[in-house]
Amino acid sequence: MTIKVGIAGRRGLNYWLGFQSDPRFRVEAFCELDEAVLQEDAAKFGIPRSYRIYEDMLQSDLDAIVVATPMQLHVSQTIAALDAGKHVLCEVTAGVAMDELWWLQESVERSGKVYMMSENACYFPENQIIAGMVRDGLFGEAYFGEGEYLHDIRHLGRLPGGKPSWRSYWQLGKRGAFYPTHSLGPLMKWFEGDAVRSVSTFGSGWHAAPEYRQEDTTLTVCRLESGKLIKLRIDCLSPRPKNAYYSLQGTKGCYEAPRGLGDTHKIWLEGMDASAEQANWRPLSDYMHYLPERYRLATEEQKSAGHWGSDFFIVHDFIQAITAGTKPEIDVYDACEWTAVALLSELSAMNGGKEMTMPKFRKGMPRAEQIIRI
Ligand SMILES: NC(=O)c1ccc[n+]([C@@H]2O[C@H](COP(=O)([O-])OP(=O)(O)OC[C@H]3O[C@@H](n4cnc5c(N)ncnc54)[C@H](O)[C@@H]3O)[C@@H](O)[C@H]2O)c1
Repeated sequence: MTIKVGIAGRRGLNYWLGFQSDPRFRVEAFCELDEAVLQEDAAKFGIPRSYRIYEDMLQSDLDAIVVATPMQLHVSQTIAALDAGKHVLCEVTAGVAMDELWWLQESVERSGKVYMMSENACYFPENQIIAGMVRDGLFGEAYFGEGEYLHDIRHLGRLPGGKPSWRSYWQLGKRGAFYPTHSLGPLMKWFEGDAVRSVSTFGSGWHAAPEYRQEDTTLTVCRLESGKLIKLRIDCLSPRPKNAYYSLQGTKGCYEAPRGLGDTHKIWLEGMDASAEQANWRPLSDYMHYLPERYRLATEEQKSAGHWGSDFFIVHDFIQAITAGTKPEIDVYDACEWTAVALLSELSAMNGGKEMTMPKFRKGMPRAEQIIRI
């Protein structure tokens, strides 16, 4: 029996290849509010059914939906799909308000359907290599990590005609680290089994783009349940080249991503050099054997799916969760916790960097715990 998929939002077409390459799945429907995009892309990808109205698409006999519309629509569209008996692969972030996250996890539990958040940074090849090295203990015990998302998207705050876009409200119109999952996600995978216990955020003020409510740069410290630390810098407003930076420190070594201008992914592990004074970086490429086999065997077409093949392997894992009943790689509890870092960081930034306690997102979370105290 073919599992029929509907994609909402043009960005979701990045996942088309992943579904089409599995004979059990078929992208059957495409939904886009923009009529011109709808017609052009449905034809380009050979998708038989097209819809402008999301609810109309849900009424059809689809089995799974990709939600790749603006952030503020994610939760309402996901819940509608789950209630219609469909599995959901949803873009980042999971939602834009704490209440939405309670609704989301309850809806996923009630539906019994698969929900996965498509945080593609977890799937970047280098982040996968580091995950494997962490698992094998090469860094010893990891206790500190950094994630930075530096991407000047001021221009995306306006539509071509000059009116504000959704991003000017829901991404750039909020205080705090409102787009943290690209930075946090891979680190949480490296700290597998741990969880965020608290969030504290400071903003740099309004210098580069005072027309937006978001501060230029935010620094967020996440303390984990274990006491370990993650530091995030999110900046979508400062004029500068784009960079997604990560680092990891453990008891036996460390990793740093490139910062640009010929810099490269690099590691240092204890025993590589005679003394700490002589310690020299080694290229991460020496450890390519830690890249998962499916990446090493990936075809050029698979790699072309977007973000160095990440968008292909995300679908692969979503398909596994549907067909084999495995835990989704980024399940609703991960999605809620990682997204809540944004929402708590907003409250923290507005309260002088106050440390905000993270709720423990888990199955059957009691209502009494669904309270955020300042
Ligand atoms: N993972 C990543 O690397 C990554 C990159 C870019 C965007 N995103 C996420 O993807 C989502 C979309 O971002 P974008 O950059 O494509 O935004 P965009 O504004 O460029 O495109 C959004 C599209 O959704 C359509 N749309 C809006 N409301 C709709 C509705 N109700 N039904 C159907 N279509 C609707 C719009 O017509 C538009 O074409 C966001 O959640 C964003 O955070 C993720």
